[in-house]
Amino acid sequence: MRRYKKSPTAGPRADCVGEAAVRTDWDMENQRSEKRAEIMAAPALIEARNLRKSFQAGAGVFVETGRRVRAVDDVSLALAPGETLAIVGESGCGKTTLARMLLRLIEPDAGEICFQGRDLLAAGGAELRALRREMQMVFQDPFASLNPRLRVEAIVGEPLEIHEPHLGRAKRRGRVRATLETVGLGADAMQKYPHEFSGGQRQRIGIARALALRPKLVVADEPVSALDVSVGAQILELLQALQREFALTYLLISHSLPVVAQLATRVAVMQAGRFVEVGEADQVLSRPAHPYTQALLAAVPEVPGLALP
Ligand SMILES: Nc1ncnc2c1ncn2[C@@H]1O[C@H](COP(=O)(O)OP(=O)(O)O)[C@@H](O)[C@H]1O
Ligand SMILES: [Mg+2]
Repeated sequence: MRRYKKSPTAGPRADCVGEAAVRTDWDMENQRSEKRAEIMAAPALIEARNLRKSFQAGAGVFVETGRRVRAVDDVSLALAPGETLAIVGESGCGKTTLARMLLRLIEPDAGEICFQGRDLLAAGGAELRALRREMQMVFQDPFASLNPRLRVEAIVGEPLEIHEPHLGRAKRRGRVRATLETVGLGADAMQKYPHEFSGGQRQRIGIARALALRPKLVVADEPVSALDVSVGAQILELLQALQREFALTYLLISHSLPVVAQLATRVAVMQAGRFVEVGEADQVLSRPAHPYTQALLAAVPEVPGLALP
């Protein structure tokens, strides 16, 4: 089984750029080994070491106070440029918490994150803003994640307004139009409001918003779980096409193995805040090593058009 290379020490920030993962014999034997080897040899786009986050339990009346939930418990990972790492696991296992830490939307209790060779957790001000624009998120719920009071032009243009204020209105409008086109929406979408679109179209708008700044890393947190299977499959195909077109690196979060099977190059299986198995997608999905992964796979219902390997 492939494992991420452990950093020798938690050491100096200068050694931020590491190899994305260790090469194995399995890699070399694989048909796609050349491409994989290329990916693996590249410095990681993002590398996290020993991330931890716990929350105070007890928002509910019946939970004893003072107990802490370890949402993410010593997780390390690295993403090579251009790959799709899927994180799969049951609801509540810590996927969203991990994703939010990687984008520094919440602060880890412990651990390190290097993004593009920079210490993300130490960055502030202009440096942090510059790093942030390279990492964007696609959210689960295309109904809740778009401001209902804004027209699509404003929704997709907002990140540009913030990060590229010098663009000016006409150029911004051009960028919004072009970005909408890449996700399969016409210019007529610009003047409409989110409620005028179907779920799948709204998710396209959410993807356009994430892509407007031309980021390197896209974290998609359950991007199709709020959609019908057939609509979700189209969105997954779109994500795949966009990855090729813009050389994107994906962190795909999903509780659904068929979804993961469609997109992932590597899979990390998460249980109770920890990674229990990490490996090439084919390997994890067809020859799972960990009993928890085996149980997840055994529980997958057959979904037409989304066959596991
Ligand atoms: N802001 C928060 N406050 C308290 N507990 C939280 C918070 N966010 C997440 N949790 C808890 O952390 C655990 C992991 O949650 P989450 O990361 O949302 O899991 P997943 O995305 O895999 O469903 C859960 O037990 C959840 O209740
Ligand atoms: Mg979640």
